[in-house]
Amino acid sequence: MEGTIPTHIAIMMDGNGRWGKQRGLTRSQGHYAGSKTMENIIKDSLEIGLKVLTLYAFSTENWTRPPKEVQYLMDLPAKFLNTKLPDFMENDIKICISGDIEGLPSHTKKAVKKAVSETKNNNKLIVNFALNYGGRHELISVVKKILSDIQDTKITIENIDEQLVNTYLYTSGLPEPDIIIRTGGEQRISNFLLWQSSKSELWFTDTYFPDFNKKLLLQAIEEVNKRKIKE
Ligand code: FPP
Repeated sequence: MEGTIPTHIAIMMDGNGRWGKQRGLTRSQGHYAGSKTMENIIKDSLEIGLKVLTLYAFSTENWTRPPKEVQYLMDLPAKFLNTKLPDFMENDIKICISGDIEGLPSHTKKAVKKAVSETKNNNKLIVNFALNYGGRHELISVVKKILSDIQDTKITIENIDEQLVNTYLYTSGLPEPDIIIRTGGEQRISNFLLWQSSKSELWFTDTYFPDFNKKLLLQAIEEVNKRKIKE
């Protein structure tokens, strides 16, 4: 692997459903396989020295999926976070959530809040789950919070600039993603990190997320590094 390791990579983990279908499995079994891949990618991110890994786990659009699949996608984070907590502590991993936590079912919310609070002083790698996340939803919430703070005279219209908007985002305090990876063949941004992706390099692969691996992660980094040399 040549060149520098970026600070922040965000991954749109697409293709779980199709991966399952291709193997005669259910879509949920595809999501389970995706969660195993996610585990490996977190380990790989630690190894290569990434500082922030954002994972698009559930979008505000995903609520329209069949109820059984939605339920599975809400159970997975709770199971995953509860099981992996000792590992996060041991490896100095801090869990962050970007998204509307209040809109999650109570067991998911509880697991998320616990993982965030118990790992808050860790600082080797930040794993930021985009959960119940939508870029437009986020920007609407920013507008509402800014208006409310103006009304409460905490800020004035003149205070509004890029830096201030950053502090109202779910990702407040995190650097912007250097690279956004989308697996599964689609080449769209799909309401992901609309504000934060303004300068990100985009990298796409046809590989379904359960088959994504360290080799592809390093390939993405290397190809983006090459783009930068050409600039
Ligand atoms: C998109 O693939 C993927 C998702 C909607 C869910 C991604 C979730 C995980 C990988 C696991 C999350 C687990 C935790 C612990 C947060 P898709 O269903 O749209 O696949 P398709 O494009 O083939 O239909």
